[in-house]
Amino acid sequence: MGKKRVAVLISGRGSNMTALIEAARANDYPAEIALVVSNRPEAAGLSRAREAGVATAIVDHRPFGEDREAFERALDAELRAQRIDLVCLAGFMRLLTPWFVTRWSGRMLNIHPSLLPQFKGLDTHRLALEAGVKQHGATVHFVVPEMDAGPIVAQDSVAVREDDTEATLAARVLEVEHRIYPQALRALAEGRASLASSSKENAPREGGA
Ligand code: GRF
Repeated sequence: MGKKRVAVLISGRGSNMTALIEAARANDYPAEIALVVSNRPEAAGLSRAREAGVATAIVDHRPFGEDREAFERALDAELRAQRIDLVCLAGFMRLLTPWFVTRWSGRMLNIHPSLLPQFKGLDTHRLALEAGVKQHGATVHFVVPEMDAGPIVAQDSVAVREDDTEATLAARVLEVEHRIYPQALRALAEGRASLASSSKENAPREGGA
């Protein structure tokens, strides 16, 4: 069976994107990173992708103004033009409408820097320090219409240290992210993770996953 064609959607530096590109170089990896798309033309990850020999596209959200779905139709057209099978959100800073999420349902993953369902949204490392949790971490999950929810595909934790700052904690969590995202994509591409099966055994708790 051929490798799944994956698009990574970014808005910024693209370190998770790079981790996926590197993992996908292995002969036995079941997916290839066929495309990197950014909604921000200045995203640093775009040049990293080009250096790695990966095709890139820019779909700037700004000309579409408030019309999120029009932006997503342009994005979807890029994905279809490149015959994309699976989508990985990696620091993609746009909320997606139910239209796009439904279209890619079961074929789209996101990475979030917390142990979901804790600390959804932004500033997760600050929130973790303020809450005084002893464990923090990262989660890869299927994308569903609710933000930072959806069945979990991979998750791992780090111990929070007494002297941690947002920066030191973020750096250790980022190492976890770079490890678990390739694992989660492998599981999806090999059919070991699916939205249908995980929805039953991993039903959202407290509105999250
Ligand atoms: C990561 O912390 C990711 O979990 C979050 O946004 C950040 C993106 O970093 N969604 P990078 O662009 O992958 O370096």
